[in-house]
Amino acid sequence: MTVQELAATAHRLVGSGKGILAMDESNSTCDKRFAAVGAPETEEARRSWRELIVTTPQLGDSISGTILYDETIRQRKKDGTSFVNVLTGAGIIPGIKVDTGAKALAGHPGETVTEGLDGLRIRLQEYFQMGARFAKWRAVISPAGGLPSRGCIKANAHALARYAALCQEAGLVPIVEPEVLMAGDHTLERCREVTEETLHCVFNQLYAQSVILEGIILKPNMVLPGLNCPKQQAVDEVAVATVASLLRVVPASVPGIAFLSGGQRSELASARLNAINIIARSTSSRLPWPLAFSFARAIQQPALEIWRGQENRVLAAQHALAHRAHCNKAALQGEYSAAMERT
Ligand code: 13P
Repeated sequence: MTVQELAATAHRLVGSGKGILAMDESNSTCDKRFAAVGAPETEEARRSWRELIVTTPQLGDSISGTILYDETIRQRKKDGTSFVNVLTGAGIIPGIKVDTGAKALAGHPGETVTEGLDGLRIRLQEYFQMGARFAKWRAVISPAGGLPSRGCIKANAHALARYAALCQEAGLVPIVEPEVLMAGDHTLERCREVTEETLHCVFNQLYAQSVILEGIILKPNMVLPGLNCPKQQAVDEVAVATVASLLRVVPASVPGIAFLSGGQRSELASARLNAINIIARSTSSRLPWPLAFSFARAIQQPALEIWRGQENRVLAAQHALAHRAHCNKAALQGEYSAAMERT
């Protein structure tokens, strides 16, 4: 795989006016979300839910790629068609989550390091053969209660860079996801500081590991106040802070940035993404990269709450899923408005 091919895949994913749908929940996370809405916590329920998602009509109009999980990339529709074939048939690029989760970081109480490097080269080769063309690895940084430590940021950035280098070797575009969490009472200013420090460290490590920046996608958090912070900035202030931070730390050679939603309410995530793209599209800002989305909860949650494991709710849930995908696509043009939620 050449640099040009990696760059072309990255461009199709985030430079085409569409975004990425993350449906890469591990089985345990998926089960937890099912339990919260009363859906059965079984392999067949997970398969049905994922079939609902990948067969949503016109999904490919708004979604350029979907991130799958190891169980999911091997699953099939009831009629036997593999999910990978369904997606590629709809013009959607299949991707794969390859980390094995955030585990307690020794010597750093309350912090985690994301694992999964052992055996990764072999796993990436298998996923490529199965049709995946990009991958995801999520590092988790908490800014709550005096955290994060320098050691946590560095350990996670190093792992992200090692993962990214292995992906490129295998012909997969790595989504590099260092998530600064929303949980906590920290201010927006604190989130900004931690986000910038984390991204500086990540790009430093990517450089040290010879990762080709033209062949990655960055998946950051938006710069937000903590969920329990008494001061909650307006949508426009969040957008200004987010764009300013990214401009300070993300090299221009990165082909695109796709935000995670991080547990924001769906409509708020769309409104913030829209405000970010209004800034991006203004002639004075001239940003070097497109600003897309790679949402899981902010696209899936309303549909999941309709479905709740019931066969007779599939069409209504698909309608809700397509609606959220469509709203977020509109937000990439700065054309999302609350009125779209009433249609
Ligand atoms: P959320 O949009 O729900 O944060 O999920 C994105 C993701 O892929 C987390 O790793």
